[in-house]
Amino acid sequence: MELRRLSICIAFFVFACLSQGSEARHSIERRAAEDVNYDLLADEASDDEAQNDADGGNDADEEIEEDAVITTNPTNYTVTVGKSVRLECKASPSEGVVVQWTRKNTKYFIGTLNEVEQNLKTYTGQDRFFIVANSTDLLIKNVQPEDSGAYKCEILQMNGVSIEHNVVLLESPKIIRFFASDNGHVPEGRDLLLTCEVSGSPPPQILWSWEGNQGNQRLTEKDGEFTANSVFIRNVKPENSGKYYCYVLNNVGSSQAEVQVQVLRKPRVHVHRTIVNSDLNVEAVLECSIHDEPAAHIRWYKDGRRIEDSSRQYSVSTHGQHSNLTVIPTSDLDFGTFTCEAENNLGKHNRSIDLVQSPVVEDFGNDGPKLFWTIHSHQPLEEIELQLREIDGEGEWRTLRVPLPEGRRHEYSIVYSLEDADIDAGKYEITVKVKNEKNWSEHSNPAIVDIEAQPQYIRPASVYLPGAGHSIRPHIVLIPLIYLLVRL
Ligand SMILES: *[C@@H]1O[C@H](CO)[C@@H](O)[C@H](O)[C@H]1NC(C)=O
Ligand SMILES: *[C@@H]1O[C@H](CO)[C@@H](O)[C@H](O)[C@H]1NC(C)=O
Ligand SMILES: *[C@@H]1O[C@H](CO)[C@@H](O)[C@H](O)[C@H]1NC(C)=O
Ligand SMILES: *[C@@H]1O[C@H](CO)[C@@H](O)[C@H](O)[C@H]1NC(C)=O
Ligand SMILES: *[C@@H]1O[C@H](CO)[C@@H](O)[C@H](O)[C@H]1NC(C)=O
Repeated sequence: MELRRLSICIAFFVFACLSQGSEARHSIERRAAEDVNYDLLADEASDDEAQNDADGGNDADEEIEEDAVITTNPTNYTVTVGKSVRLECKASPSEGVVVQWTRKNTKYFIGTLNEVEQNLKTYTGQDRFFIVANSTDLLIKNVQPEDSGAYKCEILQMNGVSIEHNVVLLESPKIIRFFASDNGHVPEGRDLLLTCEVSGSPPPQILWSWEGNQGNQRLTEKDGEFTANSVFIRNVKPENSGKYYCYVLNNVGSSQAEVQVQVLRKPRVHVHRTIVNSDLNVEAVLECSIHDEPAAHIRWYKDGRRIEDSSRQYSVSTHGQHSNLTVIPTSDLDFGTFTCEAENNLGKHNRSIDLVQSPVVEDFGNDGPKLFWTIHSHQPLEEIELQLREIDGEGEWRTLRVPLPEGRRHEYSIVYSLEDADIDAGKYEITVKVKNEKNWSEHSNPAIVDIEAQPQYIRPASVYLPGAGHSIRPHIVLIPLIYLLVRL
């Protein structure tokens, strides 16, 4: 009996010496050796580790030496900026285990269990990383956006084992800056770049919309080219003006900002009349106005030559976007082409007005077979001619004389019904021109008139001067009455 006890003792001693070779190694005795004399073991093996390793019993063959394992699973930690997060790395068995925490191949920590919290400032250069007391867990305090990413915990042993955690930061999206190129004042034809600088975690999604004439609408691939945080709109037109919105969202929150874009363009000149009738010593006012762009400078030209503001022959009156040129012709040379030009820093534009002594025909149109137009002529009228041809027929022009209005004025409103003329049914293209003692007017714009088949009644043309009741000839009043009676 004495001999047996001694042999067990020696066997254990040898084992203890061997196992001291690898610090991080442990062996696990699965089977409890009840028949071992514990008092003796405690005396002989002063080494902590040997104690932990248990005894070498009769069944030494069943003893399995095993590496430490990590019992923590890889985890995605979501954390809000400013808060703390504890990344777990539980080893089993944990005593004597040496772990290494790394991030992006940078060592954050190498060490073993410690009874107090360890500040990792010497590894990380920051006062926010710690190893929790009595653990191998990494604690990050006051989490910052740059802390997101992968963290690896590895047990340093022959068969190294590791896990990788992921820190996902939660940060409500913020729009740092939202701006448009050219400060939002973009010349027509240029490209517009909208940039929305955002922060947030997970990285926020950006949605773009635009409030034009048709209300708020999403910007799509058709509207521009999208990059991570910008939209590029090529060749902007005035229609691209309006408010643009950047809307950012992630699973923590959302935010929105807007920017006003105005597409600038060169001025557009509009003249009220392109041809104006006047006479010697008759004042003519030529009117011009500018569309779209304020900040435009207006100038006048006569037959291509600049009219100086100091000119005594003309008077120019400009208020904001409107300008009037007043002329009193004193010779035939004073008639001609007057041009209104507007210029801003994007360019210039002009429109011309002809000041003439010939009649000017305006507003030629029709209501069924009833034609109407206006004549401007300070000179007495000599002839009014309608020219018409059937659109689907031979295409030959026919001339119809229209009786002259009575009285002398400088503006005449003429109404003439084709029912009064001897015209076959059909579809006609009709223009009018007027002669005064100086010249013929230009042809008016054509009107298209449908003459319906109907009984022919011989009637003279009727012409009247609106507001001049005394000049209406009696038979004009009578004939429509007769016509009505016949129809009934
Ligand atoms: C962590 O999140 C990523 C995607 O963000 C996912 O692919 C992965 O499976 C997640 N891992 C765990 C352990 O949940
Ligand atoms: C760590 O463990 C030791 C011994 O078990 C204990 O005395 C100490 O209070 C523990 N430290 C903390 C911070 O829990
Ligand atoms: C008006 O514009 C036309 C076309 O741009 C230009 O050719 C012409 O010279 C201009 N006229 C004046 C008087 O500036
Ligand atoms: C130009 O003339 C018209 C008609 O006479 C007048 O109504 C208008 O106020 C004038 N505009 C300017 C800028 O003088
Ligand atoms: C009459 O008008 C025509 C254009 O309609 C023009 O070519 C011609 O020179 C004018 N004649 C006179 C005398 O003004």
